[in-house]
Amino acid sequence: MLQSTKNFFDQYSGTKPKIAIILGSGLTNFFEENEKKFEISYNDLKDFPKPTVEGHSGRLVLGEINNKIVICMYGRSHIYEGHQPQSLTIPIRMLREIGCETLIVTNAAGSLNENMPAGSLMLIKDHINWSGFNPLIGKNDENFGSRFFDMSNAYDSSLRKNIIKISQSENINLYEGVYIMYSGPNFETPAEIKAFKTLGADAVGMSTVPEIITATHCGLKNVGLSIITNFASGLSLNALTHNETLTEAKKAEEKVIKLIKKFINNY
Ligand code: HPA
Repeated sequence: MLQSTKNFFDQYSGTKPKIAIILGSGLTNFFEENEKKFEISYNDLKDFPKPTVEGHSGRLVLGEINNKIVICMYGRSHIYEGHQPQSLTIPIRMLREIGCETLIVTNAAGSLNENMPAGSLMLIKDHINWSGFNPLIGKNDENFGSRFFDMSNAYDSSLRKNIIKISQSENINLYEGVYIMYSGPNFETPAEIKAFKTLGADAVGMSTVPEIITATHCGLKNVGLSIITNFASGLSLNALTHNETLTEAKKAEEKVIKLIKKFINNY
């Protein structure tokens, strides 16, 4: 058992969560106050990587939605912060160890598609790992999964169908596309974005891929949602800033949370 899992169970002995959510940049308000049941800081989870970026708070919050216990990571760590890629496996493996079966990952991303402007939501159907890293390089831990494993349904097709159905019934416009991960910390160059388009990407960001690789390895079913906060480099005349990422993500927050909560209701 991971140190973080032990730390968690030292403080929490209630019903185990089956669904986990990771909140990306700018998303800060998943639970209503009356839905919250338990909360622990990443500082109290000894081997958990600690986020250093503005907009990522560093708390694990457990709540109840429609009689279902769900756990939510308020903030995540990224490779560009200097974390060892292997350390990014810890939050995901901990979620698995405490009982989660399904992982919903959200992120902020730049759009490579002229028809998908800021404020859009994109359901991730697949990814391209362009980060230059893989969190599972090193000795394989057989307790979590086998050395070589399949990624062809990493973004679970039946969960994607459910999400699409919900978006239609709620009148939420939902795109579907491929997410490409760039390491950051700089935003991409226009030439890189042009290349990524040729590779088949629809949105670009600096997270999610290490989490989905780790989650697929340890048998979690995954859903990925990108909040489009800007047109990627070279597709608009504006200079890209982290502030824009945060404010645009905030604007779309209500819509994403509604979609995720409906998904939980039907789970
Ligand atoms: N590139 C990379 N990451 C991002 C972007 C982007 O354009 N927007 C939000 N996160």
